[in-house]
Amino acid sequence: MTSLAFAGQRVALVTGASRGLGAGIARRLGAEGYFVAVNYRSGADQAAEVVESIRQAGGAADAFSADVTDEAAVASLVERITGTAGPIAVLVANATGPQPTVAIDDLDWEDHLAQLDFFVKSPTLLVRAAVPHMREQRFGRIIQIGSDMFERALPEMSAYVAAKGAQLGLTRSWARELGPSGITVNLVAPGWIPVERHADASPQEIAAYLAEVPMGRMGTIEDIAETVAFLASDRTGFITGQRITVNGGHTID
Ligand SMILES: NC(=O)c1ccc[n+]([C@@H]2O[C@H](COP(=O)([O-])OP(=O)(O)OC[C@H]3O[C@@H](n4cnc5c(N)ncnc54)[C@H](OP(=O)(O)O)[C@@H]3O)[C@@H](O)[C@H]2O)c1
Repeated sequence: MTSLAFAGQRVALVTGASRGLGAGIARRLGAEGYFVAVNYRSGADQAAEVVESIRQAGGAADAFSADVTDEAAVASLVERITGTAGPIAVLVANATGPQPTVAIDDLDWEDHLAQLDFFVKSPTLLVRAAVPHMREQRFGRIIQIGSDMFERALPEMSAYVAAKGAQLGLTRSWARELGPSGITVNLVAPGWIPVERHADASPQEIAAYLAEVPMGRMGTIEDIAETVAFLASDRTGFITGQRITVNGGHTID
């Protein structure tokens, strides 16, 4: 292992942090004093901007490319981060691919696999690679970014809904398995949080959504980043295996 440039700082890996929620989570963790590994697959320039903004704000970060659905790429990612900054203490499994609507008549196994790659395979690869380092530290925070879509269960989204449900199952089982090692595992379930990919959402669409949200506003990236920062902190060592829904009360039973 190489010498650590950022000794003393906890290291946080945020997957899919070149834009969207991941970029906001990375910035927030940078402001909280973590060394942030900003992972991306194709958006090198955007990831570099996120790193630069963290550094400008006085934090420490670096960009790490990797397809987090690929086993060898994840192993290399964790090795590179550990070599550059030290062992990973906080893992935020956030990356997502496209989430197309698919009617049941057209739904095939490939549609399921496309979602399971991100929400079951990738978290498994990441956790397997990072947990030995967390065990050594007797400290770890695994935070999965799920979705309230599991509760909303919208039609033609069944592959995404099923994979997000599976991700919650992993969270709960891993929490039991890793608790004795001082590692917590939780899932943050956002509601609709407008990010770059929602740029063409119509005012009608937003108004219809807001009509069902008790808090009467759209969620922000900061709402999610705040919750992740809380779960990453020392203050939450007795919270594990939980889902925290951040959606303004949209899915209150
Ligand atoms: N935004 C919402 O309304 C919302 C609501 C509920 C749940 N969520 C959940 O929140 C998470 C983030 O969603 P988002 O809306 O922020 O998504 P997004 O804006 O589409 O960003 C996706 C990120 O994932 C990265 N990525 C894609 N494929 C990758 C791969 N194979 N390996 C590594 N990185 C990859 C992208 O980077 P590159 O472009 O560099 O590839 C990008 O940084 C997801 O788990 C999603 O299900 C979001």
